[in-house]
Amino acid sequence: MQCNIKKSTFDHYWQSLANPILANPTEKVSTALKTLDSLLNWENVFGNDHSVEIEVGSGKGKFLKESAQRNPKINYIGIERASKYFKRSCERLAKHNITTARVVYCDATYFLQKYVADQSVNAFHIYFPDPWPKKRHRKRRIFNNSIWISELVRTLNNKSGEIYIATDYKAYFCEIQELFDCHPTFEYCPLKSTETNYIQTNFEIKYRKQRRPIYRAVYIKP
Ligand SMILES: C[S@@+](CC[C@H](N)C(=O)[O-])C[C@H]1O[C@@H](n2cnc3c(N)ncnc32)[C@H](O)[C@@H]1O
Repeated sequence: MQCNIKKSTFDHYWQSLANPILANPTEKVSTALKTLDSLLNWENVFGNDHSVEIEVGSGKGKFLKESAQRNPKINYIGIERASKYFKRSCERLAKHNITTARVVYCDATYFLQKYVADQSVNAFHIYFPDPWPKKRHRKRRIFNNSIWISELVRTLNNKSGEIYIATDYKAYFCEIQELFDCHPTFEYCPLKSTETNYIQTNFEIKYRKQRRPIYRAVYIKP
């Protein structure tokens, strides 16, 4: 039984690597990213020159939908590597006729490496990243991946780039804080980190109901 669960987790992982897709849910159009021979050009993807923000692990798409409704002049990309949630977020965006959000079915690090141009992203939103609590699994945490960190640095806009992070997992949060505090590129932004008028994701709502503490931080490229 345990074996099967592990296998299916990794099947999802490799499938999303093998066939990454960029979906425009409202127009019901999807592009196999493997057919592209260059990095993505956001103006071509969205048909406008608005800035682009990326949510990593967009789950059921609540943040994408609500952010797009709140900020019509921002383009959103959600990256999701679980096919079930990729589908759920596409359905949600299509249902609400959201024209400024796309969903990518892929591993986030791979997507940045292969398809995202230098300094072309204005903000990253990483809410409740998988904490991989078991010691032997910690190397799977996205913030333990040095390629992921270097891709964040490369793709984030140098002038106004922001990284939004939230988790309920204190030990992981402390690790992330340490990583960013020691990194020469980023600066902690206390004002944005303590804002309260932000969009809560499904996981945040669930954890708040369970009265779990939520740890939030925003880093900027000063
Ligand atoms: C704990 S859930 C949080 C979902 C959502 N952000 C929320 O707060 O409700 C983490 C999500 O991130 C996705 N995920 C984890 N690692 C990922 C990666 N490297 N690339 C893309 N998606 C990833 C998982 O499939 C899962 O849907």
